[in-house]
Amino acid sequence: MTDKKLPFGKEKLKEIISLYPTPFHIYEEKGIKDYARKFNKAFEWNEGYREYYAIKAAPNPYLMKIMQQEGFGIDCSSLAELEIAERLGMKGEDIMFTSNDTPDYEYKKAMDLGAIINLDDISHIEYLEKSVGLPELLCFRYNPGNLKAGNLIIGHPEEAKYGLTRSQMVEAYRIARDKGVKRFGIHTMVASNELDPNYFVETAEILFDLIAVVSRSLNIHIEFANLGGGIGIPYRPDQKEVDLQVMSEGIRRKYEEMIVGNGLAPLRIYFEAGRAMTGPYGFLVTKVLHLKDTYKKFAGLDACMTNLMRPALYGAYHHITVAGKEDVADTRLYDVTGSLCENNDKFAIDRELPEMESGDIVVIHDTGAHGHAMGFNYNGKLKSAELLLREDGEVVMIRRAETLEDYFATLDFGGLKDFKV
Ligand SMILES: Cc1ncc(COP(=O)(O)O)c(C=O)c1O
Repeated sequence: MTDKKLPFGKEKLKEIISLYPTPFHIYEEKGIKDYARKFNKAFEWNEGYREYYAIKAAPNPYLMKIMQQEGFGIDCSSLAELEIAERLGMKGEDIMFTSNDTPDYEYKKAMDLGAIINLDDISHIEYLEKSVGLPELLCFRYNPGNLKAGNLIIGHPEEAKYGLTRSQMVEAYRIARDKGVKRFGIHTMVASNELDPNYFVETAEILFDLIAVVSRSLNIHIEFANLGGGIGIPYRPDQKEVDLQVMSEGIRRKYEEMIVGNGLAPLRIYFEAGRAMTGPYGFLVTKVLHLKDTYKKFAGLDACMTNLMRPALYGAYHHITVAGKEDVADTRLYDVTGSLCENNDKFAIDRELPEMESGDIVVIHDTGAHGHAMGFNYNGKLKSAELLLREDGEVVMIRRAETLEDYFATLDFGGLKDFKV
């Protein structure tokens, strides 16, 4: 039995699999567009509001192009991600560059593209100035420490490596102002996969409070507050998606009271969410290879951690549907595994599912963010293709699967001839 819906049935999946072998990730264009519109609508009260899609969540330019069309900017954290932005024709304030422990060549690329640079540390002001010079607009990432509770993925803010302390924030804006920076933004990101809308209201409150302190003490205007990503999704069937109305209304109330009320308007609200934008609209489609019955029952798939790391990495739950058995009772208890020589290469442990057979098509839900992107090549396993289910039902490949040639491309086997041992 499954309590989560799929945008395709078994027949459609068989048709797709006849063209593209499993495993693959498939994204649903309509779901991405509908959610983007709903999100934009919820924040339309704020002039200049913008979501910058955290491209690390699904670094595929085709998906980004869909979201770009919906008005999103792009949030990058590395050279490769900046390159994706550039190749999509995104530049200037379309790009937010939120990185940490950043090398100078990445700052240089961000500066060349005119991206909004978000500094992760006070010492980076000098580093940036020396390596590439200071931009006209600068943003700093705030770590509120024990003012804010953290969560499993990011940890407690005081333990997290990200951001500046409260006193460093004030000092950083002062230094930047004195060095001639003219425009300012503020950023924070303290949670990941958070489902409580009020958590984001509280985050806004903490930032708005700091904006008042910084603006007054330094006589500068902060133009935008980036509330980060971290908006959760209902991975489990009994969870509910974040209520955008509650979140938006709560932030709006704080905005009226703390920003408008203190003469600090206008302030643009930004987000850099990844998971919420594409997570629920991606699916890992895989097949049962082997069923094994020892001390436990194991269903071995043709996918592995290379395709989806989250369950092994964080013990994360991903719902599983056996295609065509949506209405069959869950009478068996399985560990659903991949083929890596790592015992934690499991998509689910002790999961109640319908009885499976070799060849069954298994769909793992909510893989549209931090799914394909996180994969690695341990055991020489290759990353899969990415497909897109277009709104009209057509399926297109938006990234081919890796080949053995790709895997071996960084090795020079020819050199072995002259390599003496
Ligand atoms: C700085 C930053 N922004 C945004 C995101 C996106 O987070 P999420 O996909 O949970 O919204 C991340 C995730 O790792 C991040 O590190």
